[in-house]
Amino acid sequence: MRSAFFSLLFFVAAAASAQSWAWDDGTTPFVVSPDAVVERMLYLAQPKAGERLVDLGSGDGRIVIEAAKRFGARGLGVDIEPRLVELARGNAKRAGVEALASFEVQDLFKTDLHGVNVVTMYLLPEVNLQLLPRFLDQLKPGARIVSHDYDLGPWPFDEMIELALAEKMVGPLGRSRIFLWVVPADARGRWVADLPELGGRWQFDVAQKFQVIDVDARAGGTAMVVRGARMRGEEIRLAVTGMVGGKGYNVLFRGKIAEGRIEGDARVSDGDQMRTLPWRASRP
Ligand SMILES: C[S@@+](CC[C@H](N)C(=O)[O-])C[C@H]1O[C@@H](n2cnc3c(N)ncnc32)[C@H](O)[C@@H]1O
Repeated sequence: MRSAFFSLLFFVAAAASAQSWAWDDGTTPFVVSPDAVVERMLYLAQPKAGERLVDLGSGDGRIVIEAAKRFGARGLGVDIEPRLVELARGNAKRAGVEALASFEVQDLFKTDLHGVNVVTMYLLPEVNLQLLPRFLDQLKPGARIVSHDYDLGPWPFDEMIELALAEKMVGPLGRSRIFLWVVPADARGRWVADLPELGGRWQFDVAQKFQVIDVDARAGGTAMVVRGARMRGEEIRLAVTGMVGGKGYNVLFRGKIAEGRIEGDARVSDGDQMRTLPWRASRP
């Protein structure tokens, strides 16, 4: 099934573009991401100068080279095919970014992703799925993953851009989809925070699946209504409505999870006045 898919993709790719071909051993074929797609991939990933980017299956090196040229990101492209690695190295040199953009012959399933800030990929759906556990295991909260055309199965994306590309003859024909995931911090379990001006001790019980959270919040033992709870990387936010000490409040909690603590603020409105209190939560 897999090799039939590769063969079909190879056939279509080879027919569609002089820059496309596949290897006959059944691995993901080389098909380039069009320039407009590379631009959007990097726009979603927002690599910062000094950050580390890895393109898994780097082909002619275009993503790593563009990230170095436009964002000053330090990038590594890995590809199983030595001829492509040579091509990418030459392209990086011609672009004047060989100090930032390096390329290695490597099986992408063996690439160490610890400390990597941005992962880019244009692979096949089943390859993405095989990589998912490695992403969760090795990447830090806040790291971004961007994929051309294929998603990460059960992990809902944080953002998606769809581009119409009439000339595109591989994968979804005539269009490209570009997905972004931000690795979430671990928010699962109970958190407590003291808010003396707001009923005393607050308790937050968080259920989490990827970046999707469901929060049960209580102020001084009273259940509150929680809306819009969400995470993005290390950031957590939730809006809470309820009665505290006989008075109705709306509270917007926003914080950052790091080293087992939440540090942020609580914007409190009682209908008349708005004030901002520090929100410091920890594990009980
Ligand atoms: C669809 S191309 C993407 C090229 C480039 N990232 C882009 O978006 O233009 C996929 C690349 O993955 C490489 N590849 C396939 N299997 C691989 C593996 N196990 N390890 C490393 N590279 C692999 C192929 O040689 C090919 O260059």
